[in-house]
Amino acid sequence: MKGLRLRDVVVGYGHGSSRLVAVDGVDLDVPEGQLVGLVGESGSGKSSLARAIVGLVNPLGGTIELDGRPLSSHGERKRPHPVQMVFQDPDSSLDPRMTVRESLSEALEWRKLGRAGLRAEIGRLLELVQLGSDTADRLPRALSGGQRQRVAIARALAAEPRVLVADEITSALDVSVQGAILNLIKQLQGELGFSMLLISHNLAVVRYVCDVTAVMYLGRIVEVAASEELVRAPRHPYSRSLLGALPQLGTSARTEWLALDAEAPDPKRPPAGCRFHPRCPVGPLASSDRQLCLAEDPQPGSEERPHRAACHFALD
Ligand SMILES: Nc1ncnc2c1ncn2[C@@H]1O[C@H](COP(=O)(O)OP(=O)(O)OP(=O)(O)O)[C@@H](O)[C@H]1O
Ligand SMILES: [Mg+2]
Repeated sequence: MKGLRLRDVVVGYGHGSSRLVAVDGVDLDVPEGQLVGLVGESGSGKSSLARAIVGLVNPLGGTIELDGRPLSSHGERKRPHPVQMVFQDPDSSLDPRMTVRESLSEALEWRKLGRAGLRAEIGRLLELVQLGSDTADRLPRALSGGQRQRVAIARALAAEPRVLVADEITSALDVSVQGAILNLIKQLQGELGFSMLLISHNLAVVRYVCDVTAVMYLGRIVEVAASEELVRAPRHPYSRSLLGALPQLGTSARTEWLALDAEAPDPKRPPAGCRFHPRCPVGPLASSDRQLCLAEDPQPGSEERPHRAACHFALD
């Protein structure tokens, strides 16, 4: 497969009794040119997975491949990493003492452009993210949050990435500019053809941007489907609960879906069997005959299936 392929990826922190497994055996494909969304509540392991993909943490296990080769073998000395990340907080990727021009020049160093070439390329990047050329000589603090995030995106694009990992890129921004940034990223993907993993705790955001959506719960992917299908006919009770918590998606007809009220389990000691069983509205708490959920960890099923859910009693 052309694109990014994760198999059985494990990411953990700490040692011994303080060991926390944040990502526990994740399989996920981001095929070339596709937009894949990753949703899940806070602490489910989304950023940990992202950090493993871009090499900010070493996975404890599993494989991460691009075009069928280990991602680590793609590191050519003269080129930046083929996977680039855009973070929630643009300030984390922008040096406050560097003007936009300096920041972009640094990201373009690998191309060894002359003065005129560099100037033209900076102009092109700013145009791509819809910023005026007058932005080039400003410092980050002279820009709005939305403008800073556009610069962070331009910086990532300067590396000509095959895959962009965007982690909550709109959640620190004013609601009024969130839509514009999402539209920009969609448009850029259409023009430049990179693939993208878009991470958000907001299913509405992911659905708006992404072709496919994966739902993460306590270190595991519990459901994957085409975004529209996932919203229309979610199969995993956790996805259904997430949707129930999103009235703006027009799910008012589905009021029987329970919102998650029980507290999230301790990630250091995930529940046995299905990890969702202590909060599940259709599991052993609701039906005493469903003891299977306490004993057996449900598998999501074959990667080839376009819609898969890791639940013993998933709806068809
Ligand atoms: N550097 C770290 N050291 C120890 N534990 C960590 C570290 N980073 C994350 N964790 C833990 O790993 C788990 C997953 O965290 P992660 O940040 O990946 O979740 P997330 O889905 O991105 O959450 P959010 O939506 O809040 O960003 C959490 O229990 C978190 O406390
Ligand atoms: Mg996160």
